[in-house]
Amino acid sequence: MKLNNKTILITGASSGIGAELAIQLAAKGNRLVLLARRCELLLELVQQLAPHAHEHLYFHCDVSDPDQVKDICDWITKSEVTIDVLILNAGFNGGFSVKEIDLDLFRQHVEVNFFGAVYFIKYLVPEMIRRKSGLIAVNGSLAGYRGMPKAAAYSAAKGALMNFIDSIRIDLYKYNIHCTLISPGFVKTPITDRVEFYMPFMMSVDKATHIIVRGLERAQTEIRFPWPMVCAAQVGRLLPNRFYAWLMQSSRR
Ligand SMILES: NC(=O)c1ccc[n+]([C@@H]2O[C@H](COP(=O)([O-])OP(=O)(O)OC[C@H]3O[C@@H](n4cnc5c(N)ncnc54)[C@H](OP(=O)(O)O)[C@@H]3O)[C@@H](O)[C@H]2O)c1
Repeated sequence: MKLNNKTILITGASSGIGAELAIQLAAKGNRLVLLARRCELLLELVQQLAPHAHEHLYFHCDVSDPDQVKDICDWITKSEVTIDVLILNAGFNGGFSVKEIDLDLFRQHVEVNFFGAVYFIKYLVPEMIRRKSGLIAVNGSLAGYRGMPKAAAYSAAKGALMNFIDSIRIDLYKYNIHCTLISPGFVKTPITDRVEFYMPFMMSVDKATHIIVRGLERAQTEIRFPWPMVCAAQVGRLLPNRFYAWLMQSSRR
């Protein structure tokens, strides 16, 4: 799908990969619908996207709140804005301690990283089904391939998202709706700025986003990068459970 002259909805567009996707996709001549909780950042971003700034829409939205998502999707549908591409990118990683599991924090990981994508698909995909066209991309993570140390909530939510998109790809196949899983390694954004452990093969956000945009245009089923991390994640999947646990437990003390 040539990403030009399309209407593209991006969640989590206020910083990092989402904001850079907005910049690169606007430069290609697409109309954007941008969502996040920090509306002031969205406004600043939209003003940067000038001279076509007036064409873009932005909304305050907490993607973990189904009512807020429904209201925005209802507005979009009633306004006859046709969404060609959905990029469900909002996410966060707030950490995890097995010694003292914080249930609210755990639930928040699942609500933002997993349900934050499911809600948009519930409300916007019926219209794509009617049109028999569309592209849905969810931002997962290579951390969803297998359990990661001190990240059970994030890994579990991203793993669920991977299986979810894999399943709906089958259901949407006959409606000509493409489903893409984005599986980044480490990308330099505010999420990784907060992390203290060593992150190998860190990629700049503009390079990572360039790879994502190219993969979306090719309608790839999965866009994963950088390749050394992809190889490590693939090998990790094949390792016996006990050996994998032993190997990983020493990596983040
Ligand atoms: N950076 C990496 O190394 C990496 C690796 C693998 C996967 N990813 C995934 O890439 C995606 C983007 O992350 P990033 O690296 O660009 O980090 P980021 O700069 O922290 O961006 C996260 C975005 O998600 C939004 N968000 C968080 N909670 C939200 C909520 N409840 N409702 C609405 N929006 C919410 C934030 O907006 P507001 O705070 O304004 O709401 C922000 O725009 C995430 O899904 C992340 O898991 C990142």
